[in-house]
Amino acid sequence: MAAEAHLNAHELVTRENNYLATAARINYYDLVIDHAHGAILTDVEGHDYIDLLASASAINVGHTNARVVDAIQTQAARLIHYTPAYFHHQPEQQLAERLAKLAPGDNNEVAFGNSGSDANDAIIKFARAYTGRQYIVSYMDAYHGSTYGSMTLSGVSLNMTRKMAPLLPGVVHVPYPDLYRRLPGEDEHDVVMRAFAAFKAPFDSYLPVEETACVLIEPIQGDGGIHKAPTEYIQLVYQFCQQHGILFAVDEVNQGMGRTGKMWSIERFPNVRPDLMSVGKSLASGMPLSAVIGRRAVMESLAAPAHVFTTGANPVCCAASLATLDALEAEHLLEKSLVDGAYAEKRFLDMQQRHPKIGDVRMYGLDGGIELVQDPVSKTPDPEFASDVIYDAFQHGVVIITLKGNILRFQPPLVITRPQLDRALLVLDHALTAAENGQVHRPAGKIGW
Ligand SMILES: Cc1ncc(COP(=O)(O)O)c(C=O)c1O
Repeated sequence: MAAEAHLNAHELVTRENNYLATAARINYYDLVIDHAHGAILTDVEGHDYIDLLASASAINVGHTNARVVDAIQTQAARLIHYTPAYFHHQPEQQLAERLAKLAPGDNNEVAFGNSGSDANDAIIKFARAYTGRQYIVSYMDAYHGSTYGSMTLSGVSLNMTRKMAPLLPGVVHVPYPDLYRRLPGEDEHDVVMRAFAAFKAPFDSYLPVEETACVLIEPIQGDGGIHKAPTEYIQLVYQFCQQHGILFAVDEVNQGMGRTGKMWSIERFPNVRPDLMSVGKSLASGMPLSAVIGRRAVMESLAAPAHVFTTGANPVCCAASLATLDALEAEHLLEKSLVDGAYAEKRFLDMQQRHPKIGDVRMYGLDGGIELVQDPVSKTPDPEFASDVIYDAFQHGVVIITLKGNILRFQPPLVITRPQLDRALLVLDHALTAAENGQVHRPAGKIGW
């Protein structure tokens, strides 16, 4: 560290680029983080930034949350690791019970892993084993991870499929309902029926329903642009699954852990009890821990060692997770997400009146997708404009990135204070103006997805 102390952020990144594979990072700007607290990041040059990304929704309870730091330090001094593949430790035991009870429905079991990606692989494994069927239905524009299984389930970037085929066999993608880009005259119900017809189409032509194990959906699509599926759509797909013995699985890696004002985003949809659910990211405040939680009968369909990881359920990570759950509760962060999310939504809607390139404002608690388009009629995505906005925001102390090139990803740590939120929204407002007036001078080259 000391050897690099004389290098600025740009020089550090340039040097790093000699060693880090291109595939391992989506480039935005040269932010080299030194430390962070709450919703504030401090870079190696001592500049502070308001964090509107929360490490991709992995730090819902805020950076270096005191409960989490204390749990990690205390646990690290007692036991850093012993593999759960063979023996037991208390943080894992406590967390398994707590998650099983916290997930929708009763009679759940839990299996741990190291990343959201492997939790989604687990959904494939358990769904196939339980049903004895092979096909899995997932969604275009979904992001489920970077392992072969979860990458196959995804549908948001060609770079996640090109050059690496063959991917996992038996995965079918259907379109996710989009309430923003409607056909002329469509109301929400019409959009739902069109999307549901597209969902059913494969079953009429080449996908045997009796050989389909599972439908996996993000109830709110994250990397696809923070789109919430309409309630009626989820109900229809859920009923279809129940009618045909297909498991209904949800990915809560991005949208769970209080992000949307509910513990799990599927709780925004009444009377839906997922058979399987994947969790990660904020589960242990960014420490490497994931879980698949499911109905006992489904989870008992595989025998060991079908889903075992040497470093899974690491005690320090489990302790961090227990403290994260405590923090969500004690700091009333679900409620705060709803209140602050409604406040931010009003502010974005006000900005939309003054900035016509804001095509759509989608907010579900402190979880937002602000879609930037060339004009509100064509709704053509405007990634150049969006890149200018986030670059200008960065230059003025606010960290935010884009999804799909043109959608602002608004996912601050849920602990963000009202003055910080106000400041960040003001900076974004000014950034929109600067981008409109051609006043943003960012380095050449592609930024973002
Ligand atoms: C919805 C969703 N599922 C799964 C993943 C993969 O998680 P991880 O990167 O921890 O493997 C992500 C990561 O962005 C995600 O957003």
